[in-house]
Amino acid sequence: MNLAVIGAGYVGLVAGTCFAESGNDVICVDIDQEKIATLKSGKVPIYEPGLEELVQRNIEEQRLSFTTELAAAVRPASIVFIAVGTPQGADGRADIEQVLATARAIGEAMDGYKIVVNKSTAPVGTVEEIKRVIAAATPHRFAALSNPEFMKEGAAVEDFMKPDRVVLGGDDPEAIEQLKELYEPFVRTGNPILVMDSRSAEMSKYTANAMLATKISFINEAANLCEKMGADINEVRHAIALDRRIGPHFIFPGAGYGGSCFPKDVRAMIAMGDAELEMPLLRAVEHVNEAQKNLLVKKVKRRFGADLSNRTFAVWGLAFKPRTDDMRDAPSITVIEALLKAGARIEAYDPEAMAEAKKIFGDRIRYHRRNYDALNRADALLIVTEWNEFRRPNFQTIKQLLKQPVIFDGRNIYDAAELRKLGFAYYPIGRKNG
Ligand SMILES: NC(=O)c1ccc[n+]([C@@H]2O[C@H](COP(=O)([O-])OP(=O)(O)OC[C@H]3O[C@@H](n4cnc5c(N)ncnc54)[C@H](O)[C@@H]3O)[C@@H](O)[C@H]2O)c1
Repeated sequence: MNLAVIGAGYVGLVAGTCFAESGNDVICVDIDQEKIATLKSGKVPIYEPGLEELVQRNIEEQRLSFTTELAAAVRPASIVFIAVGTPQGADGRADIEQVLATARAIGEAMDGYKIVVNKSTAPVGTVEEIKRVIAAATPHRFAALSNPEFMKEGAAVEDFMKPDRVVLGGDDPEAIEQLKELYEPFVRTGNPILVMDSRSAEMSKYTANAMLATKISFINEAANLCEKMGADINEVRHAIALDRRIGPHFIFPGAGYGGSCFPKDVRAMIAMGDAELEMPLLRAVEHVNEAQKNLLVKKVKRRFGADLSNRTFAVWGLAFKPRTDDMRDAPSITVIEALLKAGARIEAYDPEAMAEAKKIFGDRIRYHRRNYDALNRADALLIVTEWNEFRRPNFQTIKQLLKQPVIFDGRNIYDAAELRKLGFAYYPIGRKNG
């Protein structure tokens, strides 16, 4: 099939590339000229494991191309995906202006029947708005559907290639059939393609993200109580995970959730409640998370005092989670800004997010090429993102480099007993002596 994907960010680029990989001819469109120039040269402007290799192969095999010209991509396409941003608006609502502008441009470019599929996470009712906008811009027939994206950054290619499920929301049987055909190669192991009305599809995406955010805030709240009561969240987590109604996934306590989706999607869902529904649970989820992002700093101040002006802290992990360079709404931003405000110096390391971090912190912090280099004469090490390479470091080296052997572990990746035996003051989350 001939496809156009509008918006070549984390979602659009992965979707477009994976569709090309399964044999389709795909043109990815973006308004960001620099991004398109980079992609045309076979380089991927974001870090996403496995993506660059796929992009290069599909460019070479001439199934994947990039342009800033939306009309030139839309005309040959039978299906057009919208994968532009839906950032948080001033009142917490998702701002769908990029989606509607794209829909308008698609309508203006259309020269015949098109299936327009919205992949951006957008409030319930957006597909109906897309239909209105396109209809106002073209006399041609079209179908508009919702196809929310559930991929996880850091494992996006894998998730797209083998989705747990594909959700299609719309009422046009011909368009649904075409999309089922398109997705067929990705669900060969029997994972379902669910067809529903567009409102339910749109709601599914928000509900999934809000549920995941709720799990995190729930376990963080339990962890904080464990710490107060002298219990260990690790033991508690294992105990509850064995209950099949609960399960082991996504109940790891930490320094709060971040990223481009959970915070904004929880807020957008609260905003959808309007004056009619207060959405108290999701408000609490957000409230708990905001407090959790400050927890590491609280622990630091408990040990070193409120004035940190003569202190230096090494921070390992800046991206909002491992295996990505994405810094959007990352907990590291809250942690570092608070430490800087208290007068501290920051020596930072992240395997992939350093370029993004520089856009946020500039020269207010120092960056290191090796994780150990960040430790030199620092008062303590803070683990903010649980990259795999931080899991089994050389603790003797850490101890030698730090001014004093102190670790604040915002992701509970170390064995408390082992570290204490090695002479570290170790502050995990939700555990004894945290
Ligand atoms: N990042 C994720 O893990 C993820 C997962 C599922 C869903 N989503 C949702 O998918 C959508 C996109 O997210 P993302 O992370 O890929 O965002 P992104 O910011 O990485 O990418 C969006 C791209 O759209 C481009 N764009 C904006 N307006 C445009 C226009 N008029 N024409 C062409 N291009 C335009 C931007 O330049 C940008 O490159 C959002 O609604 C997001 O909530 C994201």
